[in-house]
Amino acid sequence: MSTAARLPLPRARHGCGRSEEEPAQTGTNCLVDTYGRVHDDLRISVTDRCNFRCVYCLDEEAEFLPRGELLTYDEIVRIASVARRMGVRTVRLTGGEPLQRRGIVELVERLAALGFSDLAMTTNGVGFARLAGALGRAGLRRVNISCDSLRPERFACIRRRGQMGPVLEAMDAAEAAGLEPVKVNVVLMAGVNDDEIEDFAAFARTTKRIVRFIEFMPLDAQSLWDRSRVLLADDMVALLSREICPLEDIPDPDPRAPATEYRFSDGIGRVGFIASVSHPFCLNCNRLRLTSDGMLRYCLFAIEEADVKTLLRNGASDAEIEKVIRGNVHEKWLGHEINSAKFVPPPRPMYSIGG
Ligand code: 5AD
Ligand code: SF4
Repeated sequence: MSTAARLPLPRARHGCGRSEEEPAQTGTNCLVDTYGRVHDDLRISVTDRCNFRCVYCLDEEAEFLPRGELLTYDEIVRIASVARRMGVRTVRLTGGEPLQRRGIVELVERLAALGFSDLAMTTNGVGFARLAGALGRAGLRRVNISCDSLRPERFACIRRRGQMGPVLEAMDAAEAAGLEPVKVNVVLMAGVNDDEIEDFAAFARTTKRIVRFIEFMPLDAQSLWDRSRVLLADDMVALLSREICPLEDIPDPDPRAPATEYRFSDGIGRVGFIASVSHPFCLNCNRLRLTSDGMLRYCLFAIEEADVKTLLRNGASDAEIEKVIRGNVHEKWLGHEINSAKFVPPPRPMYSIGG
């Protein structure tokens, strides 16, 4: 099978992107970088804290930021409202684990009031079942729940804390609250859980949840990452097509989405692949990140960041915040160099950046 054809390198889009719900922005205020990429998606990390210690993310002795270092909700909402006026249309809340931050429902409500066309969350699922209804009523639209094994013992081993049950309950509760389709994030690592790929595909087919396989990225706190541990998306597509049912590419209404989605050709079930390592999707990137300590990052792998928190705490005007956001986007590189000998991992691991 020609796998290159299955996961094509996306081509850069110029001009403001479109969502189905909001017409393209054509104003001069749009956040465009020097390569013509429009930035209309903001990932907000609300805390670096997490109740799990997933092997591919955190280390056992992780130390988290003191509370005073975190942006307050007022500060987050202020930055989000400036970003909204600059054409940002979609927001995803991340962590660490976003549910570890108290009052998250209130934050969702305040962000929803700013009129984003999509408001989503990535969570490890613990505690989500209890909050799903309130989050949905507050304006959350969608949720991605991480789950790297369907075997309880192995799940506990990978997460190093916590159990699988509450995570499965979170998926049910999300559906009951109308946060559909639920996407399940799976990081497969060679020799750890790669033998579960078919089980996850079967899970996607029986539950109608979209399982998204994320290639293991060099963003773990323990520097365990090694190319030999990465399961490549092309190989996963080939394996599932061979062993389960041929996969057909689903054209994405937004070509800038990081996951390439497929359906099984018998019409039952969908899976996605986030091929950050084997097929970087930088040319179409529309994402900007805000860390929980108030740093703007134009890329997961960025080395440099822009400090908005200090600016805010020194009484900056909206115009000054806007200038910093625009400056950060302006500095954005063409893409990370993960596949080059020059690659330097970012100084922060995943939990401290936000997924
Ligand atoms: N590589 C790939 N994915 C990762 N995640 C956390 N660390 C890594 C890593 N090193 C995933 C989590 C979560 C999402 C935010 O990112 O599993 O689903
Ligand atoms: Fe926590 Fe998510 Fe990192 Fe796992 S991947 S340790 S759940 S932040």
